[in-house]
Order: sequence, then structure tokens, then C-alpha cells
Amino acid sequence: MGVEVVVEGLSKHFGSQEIWQDVTFTLPPGEVSVLLGPSGTGKTVFLKSVIGLLKPETGRVLINGVDMVNAPERDIYETRKLFGLMFQDGALFGSMNLYDNIAFPLREHTRKKESEIRRIVLDRMEMVGLTGAQDKLPGEISGGMRKRAGLARALVLDPQIILCDEPDSGLDPVRTSYLSQLLIDLNAQLDTTMLIVTHNLDIACTVPDNMGMLFRRRLVTFGPREALLTSEEPVVRQFLGGHMAGPIGMSEEKDQATVEREQLSGAADYRNVPRTVQPQLQPSAGMPARGAALRRQRRVLAMLDQLSPSAQAAIRAGYAGEDVGRGPNGTAPLPRPQAGGAR
Ligand SMILES: Nc1ncnc2c1ncn2[C@@H]1O[C@H](COP(=O)(O)OP(=O)(O)OP(=O)(O)O)[C@@H](O)[C@H]1O
Ligand SMILES: [Mg+2]
Repeated sequence: MGVEVVVEGLSKHFGSQEIWQDVTFTLPPGEVSVLLGPSGTGKTVFLKSVIGLLKPETGRVLINGVDMVNAPERDIYETRKLFGLMFQDGALFGSMNLYDNIAFPLREHTRKKESEIRRIVLDRMEMVGLTGAQDKLPGEISGGMRKRAGLARALVLDPQIILCDEPDSGLDPVRTSYLSQLLIDLNAQLDTTMLIVTHNLDIACTVPDNMGMLFRRRLVTFGPREALLTSEEPVVRQFLGGHMAGPIGMSEEKDQATVEREQLSGAADYRNVPRTVQPQLQPSAGMPARGAALRRQRRVLAMLDQLSPSAQAAIRAGYAGEDVGRGPNGTAPLPRPQAGGAR
């Protein structure tokens, strides 16, 4: 099962440039989370901080009791082996064929025999739909295939945490849908904790259990997907709607006067767009049920009274098809939500 990632009071700057401060949230074990944020808000810097490649000035990132910020380098290095990383640019070695690219972490971090490496590499290539492409060089395949090769490489060490930095960039809408399904199917098969950084609203709205957003050097929000998808925060509404009016501008932020002018002129009408919560993607036929789904249902129902009325309604509606007293797939009974939670 995936492991929990606890982020506490994390702050990072480069020289005088503050990237973000006091970021605090927990990735629940085995659940899928998405981190949104306009370009340049420090999402990639955040992922690199979680695996200990960049050092925030304050705060902690706790994984199995190891603090990826302050622990001795040897412990950080060991804990890093729990991660599978899919980089924003694929980060494949151009002179190596796909087979060798995907085998690389196994050769680097384990003493497995070539026969065992071969079994794992071919299995992961099949998982991401790259069977038969072993001998291709990264330059000879499409961007979508490179993305999937990056994902296959992220999977070879049986990661307990998968970080994906914009897995969809450069993909067409159909490939993006396949990728969304692939991420959910992988989660069902591996029960791995996943954090996906994306600008893609289809992925954001249909894949994760939880969503967060970075803006103005803060984590604006993090919680169950229904909370963000029904949020009243102007920046969240603007981002989910893809509107020009709102706090986000071309150079990340607009000044307050511009935002106020837009509100007076009615350009900020995006705030009244109805908040729809699409159903979350389910694993494909033949895949196991997601282990995290049941844990997530319990967790979210137990925290219901901390959420806004609209988030509560969306969560109840989402679970309405399932008998809340029974849990998905007829598994163990769930605690009923507290009576005080209903409004
Ligand atoms: N090693 C570094 N040294 C100095 N500044 C850096 C470094 N890495 C990133 N930055 C700065 O940190 C800020 C955030 O960068 P980051 O790449 O994390 O943004 P992002 O949210 O991932 O953006 P995008 O959505 O475009 O990928 C940028 O201003 C960038 O220039
Ligand atoms: Mg980035």
C-alpha cells in the first residue's frame, strides 16, 4: 500500500525570490491527488522538495518517519527509492533505446540479474501500452509515447509514491483521456500514493481523490476533490473556468485595482458559473477495485462537517449510488456520517 506524505510548514525561496511559504497538507496513503497552480507558482520546485532534491528553508516532509528536508543524506537517498518520478519533459536519455531507458533505475539502484530486469521492464512497458517499442530511440517516437516511457520508467522500482509533473503536456485530448484512465488503472493495480501536477482540467476534474492549488506563494486550498470543484475562491473559479478575468494574469498576478475594476464591470461573471462535479473515473473492466476508494470514502465522510455545504452535498451525491452503510463492492460497513455534519 502507498505511504502517507506529510508536508508541514514548508517554505522555499531562491535568494530574495520567495516561491511559496507555509505549505501544509497530507497526501493520504494510496489516494490520488492533483496539485494545480498557474505557471511559475513553484509546482515543480515543490515536487523536487518532496523528494529532497531541493531544500526548503523551513518545514518538514515526513515519509515513514524520515524528514526529506532535514534528515541525513543517506536516509533521504534510501527513502527516495520509494518514489517513482515522471518528469515534466520526460527526461529520457536520447542515446538510449526505450528498453535501456526504462531499465536504468533498476541497473542504478538494484543488483537484479538481467533476466529479472527484462521481466520487469517488459511488464511495465505492457502496463503503459508500449509493448514492441523496446528498440526505439526517444527521438523516433511521438511525444505521447515518450510520456508513457517516462511513466514506465517511474514504475520499475515498485514505487509507493508516484509524482507526475504535467504528464499530459503535449498530448492531444484523446491521448489525455487514455492517460487519465491509465493513471487510475495504475492506482488500482498498485495502490500507490500519487501526486499529479497538471494544468489539464479534464485530468483535474476526473482523476484525483483530492485537489490542491498553489497561488500567490501559498497553498490556497487542499482537500477532497468536491471541496475544490465547488469552491467559491475567485482564483479557483477562474482557473477551473479558464477565464481571463480574475486574480490570475499573464504574469501570474494582477494588481488588486485591476481585479476590482473587473468585478465592477461585470467581467468577473465567471463567479456565477455553476459548479459541477463530474464523476471520478473508475478502473477499467478487469482491473481490481481501488483499495484507496473505500479508505477515502470513510475518511471524507468522517470529515464532512468541516467542509462547505456545497462540498458536503457533492460528496453525498457522489456516494449516493453506493449504500453508505455497506461500502463499495459489498465490503465492510462504513461508519455513518455524524448527524451534525448535515446542514
Ligand atoms: N534551481 C532554481 N534556482 C533558482 N530559481 C529557480 C530554480 N528552480 C526554479 N526556480 C524558480 O522558481 C519559480 C517556480 O518554478 P517552477 O518550475 O517550480 O514553476 P511551475 O509551477 O512548475 O511552473 P510551470 O507550470 O510553468 O511548470 C520560477 O520563478 C523559477 O524561475
Ligand atoms: Mg513545472
